[in-house]
Amino acid sequence: MTDTAPPDPAAPRLAARGAHLAYDRRTVSRSIDAEVREGSFTVIVGPNACGKSTLLRAFARLLAPRAGTVLLDGRDLARVPAKEAARTVGLLPQSSTAPEGITVAELVSRGRYPHQGMFRQWSQADREAVASALAQTDLVELGDVPVDELSGGQRQRVWVAMALAQQTSVLLLDEPTTFLDVAHQYDLLDLFARLHEQGTTVVAVLHDLAQAARYATDLIVMSDGDVVATGTPADVLTAELVERVFDLPCLVVPDPVTGTPLVVPRRRR
Ligand SMILES: Nc1ncnc2c1ncn2[C@@H]1O[C@H](COP(=O)(O)OP(=O)(O)OP(=O)(O)O)[C@@H](O)[C@H]1O
Ligand SMILES: [Mg+2]
Repeated sequence: MTDTAPPDPAAPRLAARGAHLAYDRRTVSRSIDAEVREGSFTVIVGPNACGKSTLLRAFARLLAPRAGTVLLDGRDLARVPAKEAARTVGLLPQSSTAPEGITVAELVSRGRYPHQGMFRQWSQADREAVASALAQTDLVELGDVPVDELSGGQRQRVWVAMALAQQTSVLLLDEPTTFLDVAHQYDLLDLFARLHEQGTTVVAVLHDLAQAARYATDLIVMSDGDVVATGTPADVLTAELVERVFDLPCLVVPDPVTGTPLVVPRRRR
């Protein structure tokens, strides 16, 4: 059944309300509550296996909650038609495999699928979206190269380009900077920050807490399938929290460049 109710402009863009998120034999979150504000750059942090990717999959409508709800603009996401959800919420998954032999431009073009009608006509808007995604990720020169022949970092940028080509107003990014050298990491984070300034609601899972603190307007800290803290990085990222959640004795000092919290581990070489 689909939901014909209009989006509620006062609602958060995305919300999990008492959501039970589970795979066949494993419950990840028993009853998770989480919110993504319209126009926020929300960063999700937490230890490995705590359920970050699972929450993103629920927000992307790839995993239905067994109980509770996941809401998009106040509407039950399970009742939003799949293609409409895909035109609104784009996901960069944590890992993906490209079909053998596919070129960079072909793969990025697949990001346009949710925008195409029954007969899959290829429009000027599709062409422009793909060209823009390739340019923003610095891949124009590699358009005709098979994805199999790229380095790990180049390949990661192709997946980012595919997500950008969808031109969704909500962008979910699961560890978007994996495999990238440090300069390309910041290039990409700056790109997301520009999209955020232009109105995209950005949700990213990051492991680097300094990057999280620099880019997030809203931080969600997860542990063991639950949200344990939310707020601005300055409010949330305390030494006590990092020690409790990551089991890492640390100091938190102001980042000398931005003044945002910088986590410095203690007693480890
Ligand atoms: N498809 C699946 N089937 C069964 N269990 C899964 C599946 N995907 C993930 N899990 C389990 O669910 C738990 C949460 O996984 P999830 O991928 O959400 O963690 P994460 O916080 O994203 O971790 P990481 O930082 O390592 O990416 C883990 O214990 C994992 O083993
Ligand atoms: Mg993950």
